[in-house]
Amino acid sequence: MRNPTRGRVLIVDDSELVLDLVSQHLHEIGYEVNTSNSGRLALSLVTQHRPDVVVCDLHMPDLGGFEVIQALGEQPNSPPVIILSADHEVGAVLRAHRHGAFDYVLKGDDYESLTTAIDRAVSHGRVLQENIRLEADLKATQQGLTQSLSRDLAAANVELERQVVELGMARDAAEIANRAKSTFLANMSHELRTPLNAILGYTEMIIEDVDHAGLRQSAEDLAKVHGAGAHLLTIISDILDLSKIDAGRVKIHVQVASAAELLNDLMQTVKPLVEKNGNTLNLALDPEIEALCTDTVKTRQILLNLLGNAAKFTRDGSISLRVTPGPEPDTVEFSVRDTGIGMTPEQTARIFDAFVQADDSTSRRFGGTGLGLAISHRLCRILGGSLTVKSEAGVGTTFTAMLPQLELAAEAVDDEPTVKVMRLAGAEGDSASPPSQTLRVSSETLL
Ligand SMILES: Nc1ncnc2c1ncn2[C@@H]1O[C@H](COP(=O)(O)OP(=O)(O)OP(=O)(O)O)[C@@H](O)[C@H]1O
Ligand SMILES: [Mg+2]
Repeated sequence: MRNPTRGRVLIVDDSELVLDLVSQHLHEIGYEVNTSNSGRLALSLVTQHRPDVVVCDLHMPDLGGFEVIQALGEQPNSPPVIILSADHEVGAVLRAHRHGAFDYVLKGDDYESLTTAIDRAVSHGRVLQENIRLEADLKATQQGLTQSLSRDLAAANVELERQVVELGMARDAAEIANRAKSTFLANMSHELRTPLNAILGYTEMIIEDVDHAGLRQSAEDLAKVHGAGAHLLTIISDILDLSKIDAGRVKIHVQVASAAELLNDLMQTVKPLVEKNGNTLNLALDPEIEALCTDTVKTRQILLNLLGNAAKFTRDGSISLRVTPGPEPDTVEFSVRDTGIGMTPEQTARIFDAFVQADDSTSRRFGGTGLGLAISHRLCRILGGSLTVKSEAGVGTTFTAMLPQLELAAEAVDDEPTVKVMRLAGAEGDSASPPSQTLRVSSETLL
């Protein structure tokens, strides 16, 4: 009974007799058979009929069995080749396997061996074909996945780009609004300072008159008016400073100053305030640092803020300013250390933000508005340096300002001098009470 699905075989042999006998047998047991009496013709028949297996003679006049195997091996998906030969030599069998023959069957053997070999080759070929099909399927699935992934990715990218544009627009709008706010504040602060200065000036005059008239109580009341006005002026000056910085209107004036002179003068300025709380004050200047080449007004302002804070938040302790070469070449490190109330890590994380104090009771207990450090931090950055803090609650605090020595060429002429009035009074208790002392820091102050 013929089984048409058993496989398709191409028999290649220069002997017509072999072709007839073998093809007849295979045909009878269910194979579909094609024949070729030359190796060269066999190659084109393979392309034409796509047999599952080629049964090929070894020695033929044009192309021998090995050449047929080699030529087929160069084609993709070529069928396995079984050599059917009368050559008993072991060398021939080995060579056939080395050339890639699927099997080697002797012509003298019974058909059983040939049929078994053909069956094996056919199923081997089918497994191979199935593998190839599966691989192709896998590739197609992968391609499909990759395409759909890239489509999803492209869509996500478009969405992301849209969001980036939207965020950029929101950021630009916020920056414009912030600048407008800073410019407004800077202008407003100017407007406020003029009448306030007039109030202070006239109050001083009236205090003198009232004093001369012997009206002690009135003089004391007026002194309170004056103190409150002066306090208000320092707050306005702080806001003006911060607004100018945020509006990008602060320029730097580089000067060369004697480090010893500048720092000793600074010590004289803060000494009364430091001693008022029973603290000692100490300056340690590394002799290597002779000159400071920076914006000395702003440097002084930063140090006065830090020393003012140290004095305010320390009682019966010690406050020191250490000035040493910084870790980078041409930098100077100013460390203000105190043995005061200190801060927790949560508190130190926020203190460089404007209007922030370590906790809500600070303003009540020590006065201040929480602007000094915000200004100092920004000024350090403007001067190309940094301001950092290390603190431990109940132990003390060290602020370190690292400033580079600037080049004189960096000097720029400011359209308007920076004004800073330092408030160094440690007004305790009632926050509404005016500070007892107001220090003028800059020669450029408008006061
Ligand atoms: N040396 C210090 N020891 C302990 N806490 C400090 C010290 N320096 C600053 N702080 C904390 O950081 C807060 C912010 O300081 P900052 O100088 O900005 O504001 P302020 O001193 O409260 O007010 P202002 O400086 O505007 O008068 C302070 O309120 C205080 O809580
Ligand atoms: Mg302060």
